[in-house]
Amino acid sequence: MPGVIRPARPRDAAGIADVHVASWRTTYPGMLPARYLLGMSRQSSYDRWQRTLSSPNTAAGTYVAFDARAGVVGFGSCGQQRSSIEGFGGEFFAIYLYDHAQGRGFGRRLMAAMAEDLIDRGMNSAVVWVLSTNPSRWFYERLGGVRIAEQEIDFAKSSVVETAYGWRDLAPLARLSADPPVG
Ligand SMILES: CC(C)(COP(=O)(O)OP(=O)(O)OC[C@H]1O[C@@H](n2cnc3c(N)ncnc32)[C@H](O)[C@@H]1OP(=O)(O)O)[C@@H](O)C(=O)NCCC(=O)NCCS
Repeated sequence: MPGVIRPARPRDAAGIADVHVASWRTTYPGMLPARYLLGMSRQSSYDRWQRTLSSPNTAAGTYVAFDARAGVVGFGSCGQQRSSIEGFGGEFFAIYLYDHAQGRGFGRRLMAAMAEDLIDRGMNSAVVWVLSTNPSRWFYERLGGVRIAEQEIDFAKSSVVETAYGWRDLAPLARLSADPPVG
């Protein structure tokens, strides 16, 4: 049975926490401080996601990539823009997949589901912030994101540079959800 993208449910908290910790640890060595990655806790991620998913208000905008055999293999979350880039209502907060689930179209379909979600909530444009050294930035370019800003931030007592990509019109991204299910 092919994988699906669906809204996250409270019982997905454990699966999301596992993906969150594992994907950060495979994605960010060399980009974020090792002590931060080593110190990540599956339990605190689980607690946070359980709180988030237990209320419809905060659960809104969270989606999972679900594989019939492996369970939750990825997740994405979106909502109102948290930074202050003018002209963009929404933001993609996070998108993470296990290594073994990458390159199968889950990422594209998660972004499409989130774009559709934002449009349904009246946000027709969105940004995403990505570490400038993260090769996943090319994924956003591939999906039509345009580089709109850069900023230096403090993260775990280190300075890192982030790039923002923007979509002024989310409709073409949302239409990608009409693609066939992930195989
Ligand atoms: C980024 C990520 C979500 C992309 O999801 P994915 O399922 O691997 O991507 P898809 O298979 O849907 O690919 C969609 C398109 O983007 C392209 N793409 C994906 N990752 C890419 C990369 N690193 N560089 C260049 N192109 C990339 C694919 O080739 C594909 O293009 P195509 O339509 O020409 O075939 C996933 O790789 C991931 O979880 N990475 C690690 C975590 C991370 O960095 N998250 C982002 C934090 S800001």
